[in-house]
Amino acid sequence: MEQDARSAFGQYGLKREYVTSTAVWERESSQIFQRHWVCVGRVEELGVNGVRPFVWEGQQLLAVCGDDVICRVFRNVCRHRGSLLVQPEECSAVGQRLQCPYHAWTYDRKGCLRAAPNMENVPGFEAKDLGLLEIPTAVVAGFLWINFAPQNSAAEFLEPIANVFAAWQLGELVVATELKYVVKANWKLLFQNYSECYHCPTVHPALNRLTPYLGSSNELVSGPILGGPMQLAAGVGTMSEDGELVGSVIPSLDPLQKRQVSYFTVFPNVFLSVHPDYVLIHRLQRLSNRETEVVCQFLFQKQDRELLNFDPLRAVRFWDLTNRQDWEVCERTQLGIEDVGYCPGPYSNLESVVAAFDRHYLASLGDFDF
Ligand code: FES
Ligand SMILES: [Fe+2]
Repeated sequence: MEQDARSAFGQYGLKREYVTSTAVWERESSQIFQRHWVCVGRVEELGVNGVRPFVWEGQQLLAVCGDDVICRVFRNVCRHRGSLLVQPEECSAVGQRLQCPYHAWTYDRKGCLRAAPNMENVPGFEAKDLGLLEIPTAVVAGFLWINFAPQNSAAEFLEPIANVFAAWQLGELVVATELKYVVKANWKLLFQNYSECYHCPTVHPALNRLTPYLGSSNELVSGPILGGPMQLAAGVGTMSEDGELVGSVIPSLDPLQKRQVSYFTVFPNVFLSVHPDYVLIHRLQRLSNRETEVVCQFLFQKQDRELLNFDPLRAVRFWDLTNRQDWEVCERTQLGIEDVGYCPGPYSNLESVVAAFDRHYLASLGDFDF
């Protein structure tokens, strides 16, 4: 796709085709979503029997915790005639082995085929060649990451924000609650919107009182992980309805970290919002060019969640309101960009991270050579 110099340098928005074209959708699939580390949940979500079927990019997958306590992700597809192995409502009945409900082929938790009735005399049948197909998987900071064609390790990929992980000890935090949305907008519009606070005074008056929009700075300004901190206003403890703390401040934070909220985007499916007392993650999954599913989880320290009077609602309501304000402008923008007359406008100086996102996106697609 031809790219003119203005938008190629990220100073103008992406052309309309990047939001509307089916060909772009397919190229995003092969160039981005099949070959980047993407976050598909928390390890703790594996549940009692340590299995969780899920769909990613239309693919049927199954996360399984093995006897060796290693978490693996397989295609949730039987190697016999392709039945789904486990459906969500069947998780509680799964035993140590995973048995296909169709003809009873049975796999262990490492994905090896252990039993296949009446197959022993079939010429050429080799159980060792018919294990479940495994997807490269990593657990970093308590999150489960997958990548169909990794070029690096998940730890290397996430290294730019490893110090944030260190201070917040994300692996130790637990999910207190979650929100889910389907936003009628292209996934990139959500990334672009999260990457600037130029819109905060108009769209988020409540948020803007807690963190005035000019109090932001950018720590990471190029590559797959972008973002930086915003300063909390005087007297404000965290992002919540009343600005008061919701959990207890994470003890390992330094004085600076206790006075700010950091916002990072992790290309291509995560927003990480790190508060003094809790962490919010938005996990995105594109459903179509004009629809994106968002799962939003609130992570707190375990001892906070266990308190009898623990109530995350002041944080949840604050972010639910903020999210809905964001989704509304994303949806309006989607409709505007779909208009055939749409022509990208220039970014402001407060949108340099949006421009950086566009550049990384285009480079990932191979549409712009750095
Ligand atoms: S499809 Fe799974 S055992 Fe036949
Ligand atoms: Fe916003």
